[in-house]
Amino acid sequence: MDTHKPTIEFNALYRTATKVTLITCCVLRAAFRVLRAVCRVLRSPGDCYRRTQNAERSTKQHAERLTRIFWLMARTLRDYPQISLKPENLDGKIDFVRLFGRAGPLHIEIGSGKGTFLVSEAKSKPDDNFLGIEWAGRYYRYAVDRAGRWGLTNVRIIRTDAAVFLAEHVADESVDCFHVYFPDPWHKRRHNKRRLICPANMENFIRCLKTGGQIKIATDHADYFEWIKSVIAGESKQLREIDFIRPAGAEEGELTGTNFERKYIKDQRPIYTIAVRKR
Ligand SMILES: C[S@@+](CC[C@H](N)C(=O)[O-])C[C@H]1O[C@@H](n2cnc3c(N)ncnc32)[C@H](O)[C@@H]1O
Repeated sequence: MDTHKPTIEFNALYRTATKVTLITCCVLRAAFRVLRAVCRVLRSPGDCYRRTQNAERSTKQHAERLTRIFWLMARTLRDYPQISLKPENLDGKIDFVRLFGRAGPLHIEIGSGKGTFLVSEAKSKPDDNFLGIEWAGRYYRYAVDRAGRWGLTNVRIIRTDAAVFLAEHVADESVDCFHVYFPDPWHKRRHNKRRLICPANMENFIRCLKTGGQIKIATDHADYFEWIKSVIAGESKQLREIDFIRPAGAEEGELTGTNFERKYIKDQRPIYTIAVRKR
């Protein structure tokens, strides 16, 4: 019993210190902004209305962001070993029936972020199996914690590079649907080659899909969308375009119901979607 005590105390101390530091930062930041706003009004009273409005908006955005970071840091994210799949434990192609402990349609979400889509879709389709692939450690941990707290038994999440994972661990004709929502656009021309949707990865998606399986993609980036359509057009012998059906978890006015979509809707950005089926 005694051997556990220092760890518990250290955790509590760490969390308190984190909270105190963040609250101090918030207060100092707010004070600094008020001071700056007062200085502006004193300097140019005629221009102050527009400036104050802008400052208020950005302060609000900042406060929201700090609050999100604060809660993320203050909350201990739990690992759920039955959900988190460790790359180091994988050897060759995965037997998904064994992994999920049952057969069922397999969905893979690439870039699952905080797991909003994964969790809501897994809840609404309890007979289907869902695998999320996420590269960023903090999003991966957040999604695992979230799926674990919901007690979902049909979700697995892995932290790895999706392109490598598909090539090494996903067997031919094993996937029913790929979901790729808001992949990083890599908008600078010299970075375009890093885009997830590219001819080489598309070949791999097609190899992994069952006949009749689907790929569903959404992006807010017009240039990337054109690029995606041209990659798909290059595979027209194997893929045909179908209607993009909104997932069950998408709310009124949403197409996918992911975190990024919700953010982009607030910013009034256009959203482009495409869905294809393997012939
Ligand atoms: C713009 S975010 C979208 C997240 C989520 N789909 C959403 O809509 O809220 C893109 C996500 O894809 C992840 N990502 C990018 N490239 C990846 C890769 N090669 N393998 C796995 N995840 C990747 C990033 O870490 C990031 O979390």
